[in-house]
Amino acid sequence: MRMKEYKYSVFTDKIEEGINKGLLKPEDKLPSVRAIKKEYNLSISSVQSGYDYLVFKGLVTSVPRSGYIVSDRLAEQNLEVELPIIPRDAVFRKKIHLITNPISDTSQTILNEASPSDLFIPQKLVLKTMQEVIREKGASLLRYYPNNGAEELRDLLVKRAGLHGAPIFSDELVVTDGALQALYIALSTITSPNDIIAVESPCVFSILEVIASLKLKTIEIPVRAYDGFDTDYLRKVCATNNIKAIVLTPNFHNPTGILMTEESKKAVYETALYHNVPIIENDVFGCLYFKGSRPSNIRNYDEAGLVMTYSSFSKSLAPGIRLGWLAAGQFFSEAERLKFALGRSVSPINQEVMIKLLQSSAYDKHLRVFRQQLERQALQLVKQLIHSFSDSIHVQLPQGGYCTWVQLPAHIDMNFFYKRCTEEGVQFTPGETFSFTDVYDNCFRAVFSKQLTLHNLEAIRRVGESIL
Ligand SMILES: Cc1ncc(COP(=O)(O)O)c(C=O)c1O
Repeated sequence: MRMKEYKYSVFTDKIEEGINKGLLKPEDKLPSVRAIKKEYNLSISSVQSGYDYLVFKGLVTSVPRSGYIVSDRLAEQNLEVELPIIPRDAVFRKKIHLITNPISDTSQTILNEASPSDLFIPQKLVLKTMQEVIREKGASLLRYYPNNGAEELRDLLVKRAGLHGAPIFSDELVVTDGALQALYIALSTITSPNDIIAVESPCVFSILEVIASLKLKTIEIPVRAYDGFDTDYLRKVCATNNIKAIVLTPNFHNPTGILMTEESKKAVYETALYHNVPIIENDVFGCLYFKGSRPSNIRNYDEAGLVMTYSSFSKSLAPGIRLGWLAAGQFFSEAERLKFALGRSVSPINQEVMIKLLQSSAYDKHLRVFRQQLERQALQLVKQLIHSFSDSIHVQLPQGGYCTWVQLPAHIDMNFFYKRCTEEGVQFTPGETFSFTDVYDNCFRAVFSKQLTLHNLEAIRRVGESIL
């Protein structure tokens, strides 16, 4: 670990901070050695050592005869894989219980569970609100609530969506038991078994599970490092196949953490409109952005009622709240009927708790703190991965959400890698669980929604150093 007394840290700390805060962008030219020497009154060799340190960290690249630039290594990761356009049966061959069983052993480095750690859940706030709700609402909480959810809750959700320009309406909303149920309902309203749908690739296994249980066929659309969902690929797929739905997570995609650009969101919508294919967009991570303001939804562009947007409070607050929603648009009647069949209405107490939290400023206050915690964790994890696994890995620097995606060099023996992970108590989610193909076998997902201790970082280092 670097010691603080290095003289060069007076300028390397500033450059690191600029890169981490996004003020310095990939390929930006950095001050010359002479300029830094003059500005900070350092010797040429100190400046040189400082730049060597930044190059070693992977933050800076040396360009012969031209000086130093911000490395584009973090941004330019090429996630592209060979994905031929083939409709595949959604046969999920993964042992899902192995990746979803919660682990309570504190000596483990848990980077495979996309849920907030207990420390990041505002437990006191949620539990206190529950008690207030019980006191205030009493026995009325024991009745059925409307099938599509409490009107007050739907109105609050509409108001929040309006703040980032998403046109969502109270009478098209169905309140659900979490986001996965919303996806299940959305897909069920517009597809039948054996229909072909387009889905992002890699894609979180829980979404693939829903697709598999509905017996749909899929064509996987690659997610690109710069702009997300590959819109050129989608165009080809839609032109040559009878696609019944497009399923994607435009904001801080799971597992890569990628945010789709506005151009790409528009392009997906235009392709869907041209072929008259409904889009089902997942927005569970939309409010967990690290920089700037909340990103838009594809729904923002929708004038034809083709986009169904869904989300939940599982990632932004607590998964145990089991509260999600689906903006079903023209498919509302069928969606409401399905929600009824799947268990009538969501638990009144959970709905009332969310109403109370959304009415006050408490939820937004929590989000502000949580976003900062997540950003810090993301940077720490990505830096540690680069440090430990060396230059030969590709890793995404996420702009929000919970996850980053790591691609190991093809020559790595993945059995040995997972054996080392087990020995060191490090839990990543294997790449193979994110596709119905086997193109991601040398990848893994690392989640940073649990607190990272020095012990965890050291365990990651030992795994990385032992496999390369
Ligand atoms: C992208 C995405 N959507 C939905 C879910 C599930 O959300 P919920 O717990 O609200 O059903 C997850 C996590 O499992 C997820 O990563």
